[in-house]
Amino acid sequence: MKTIIEPFRIKSVEPIRFTTKVERIEIIKTAGYNPFLIHADDVLIDLLTDSGTSAMSAQQWAGIMQGDESYAGSRSFFRFEAAIKKITGLKYIIPTHQGRAAEKIIFSITGGEGKFFPNNTHFDTTRANIEFSGAEAHDFLNEIGKHPEIRADFKGDMDVEKLEKFIIEKGKENIPMVMITITNNSGGGQPVSMKNIRDVKEVCKKYNLPLFIDACRFAENAYFIKMREKGFENKSVLEISQEIFSYADGVTMSAKKDALVNIGGFLALNDEELAMKCRNLLIVTEGFPTYGGLAGRDLEAVAQGLEEVVDEHYLQYRIRSVEYLGEKLVNAGVPIIEPPGGHAIYIDAKRFLPDVPPEQFPGQSVTCELYIEGGIRGCEIGSVMFGKYDAAGKLTPPPMELVRLAIPRRVYTQSHIDFVSEVIIEVYNNRKKLKGYEITYQAPMLRHFTAQFKPLD
Ligand code: F0G
Repeated sequence: MKTIIEPFRIKSVEPIRFTTKVERIEIIKTAGYNPFLIHADDVLIDLLTDSGTSAMSAQQWAGIMQGDESYAGSRSFFRFEAAIKKITGLKYIIPTHQGRAAEKIIFSITGGEGKFFPNNTHFDTTRANIEFSGAEAHDFLNEIGKHPEIRADFKGDMDVEKLEKFIIEKGKENIPMVMITITNNSGGGQPVSMKNIRDVKEVCKKYNLPLFIDACRFAENAYFIKMREKGFENKSVLEISQEIFSYADGVTMSAKKDALVNIGGFLALNDEELAMKCRNLLIVTEGFPTYGGLAGRDLEAVAQGLEEVVDEHYLQYRIRSVEYLGEKLVNAGVPIIEPPGGHAIYIDAKRFLPDVPPEQFPGQSVTCELYIEGGIRGCEIGSVMFGKYDAAGKLTPPPMELVRLAIPRRVYTQSHIDFVSEVIIEVYNNRKKLKGYEITYQAPMLRHFTAQFKPLD
């Protein structure tokens, strides 16, 4: 087979700035060893997130010029609404400025003290919005998804048995909805199978609970289903996506991922009464229901992006480019979550730095070193992001200590990715020199965004 190429040519370019290692040692120190606090101009290859970092197409930019900025009833809203209805089949489409705004609205209305929200794995903003409402967020990832070294096709699947037990234990009246996140971002960008979605739906039906899908990366998930799940090889990604959403009573989506835009999101619902309540809250917090915190031009870009993202040449390139980086790392012995997920490579920091315990944040250590060595910015997803503390102040670490290298859509070329692999392999070969870290400042919630660190001696 020939090389899978980028299915686009480049019309507009953006220079990236080179720094020296000596400069980067100073920069990361000034940032309190937290890559979120580095000036983006000081980053060479930015793999902090795939969210809002996509390159838009010429068609999307054309849509930006065609945006209708009417306060109410904008033409762009109707295009946006039609694009989302075509994929999800849901009735009520509510635009929001990004994913977490949709979360804030839905959990403000359905959450509150004494309520429980199960998911395969809640993303951090989802969890935070649930907890902020006073409710509890619970993860029921299948056992296989917790083992970075085991290769399996659908490591994002939910543990249906545990889910059902939980519903019985907590009482279905205390569970406003069951959620599934596709792909499972916090668990490694791993896909969820159609079989699992159907099985979860059966449980939901049995207990009369609505099923919500966090659909940020639905097209990547649908492409994995096409590639890996029997019976889907001849279906289009659009058809597979439509089947996924046919099981959903509601969807939250950050359009900053698979809608290929820099800002945007939505909430989609079937329940009219719930939709009315959400729209009323939207008016208070986001804006009128036909723009919801976005400009008309943003709505156009989302609508166009949703058409482009289900293109299978695009998805083949997308999934292959992440797998390509994964292959290079695995061949050099670097421990990563296998197989690679859809939007990112997740380095397994526990195996990368076996001598640095979770209390000393091995993921943070690898993240800092990648920046110092090559100007690459990644993100810790481990004890810094998800660590809990007991009454005595002892850390309860999450199951995995990871470093995420998220690949922006349509932004970097194969030689950028080759460079990234060379830097990671170099850091891995020098891993004995890496130290643990301690936290010197932290906020009470979502501490990873603003925490300050100090390397240990
Ligand atoms: N759900 C998932 C699965 C996500 O990955 C994100 C964002 C959100 C919800 C919230 O959406 O950022 O538009 O408010 N993930 C980004 C990331 C931030 O880097 O993975 P948002």
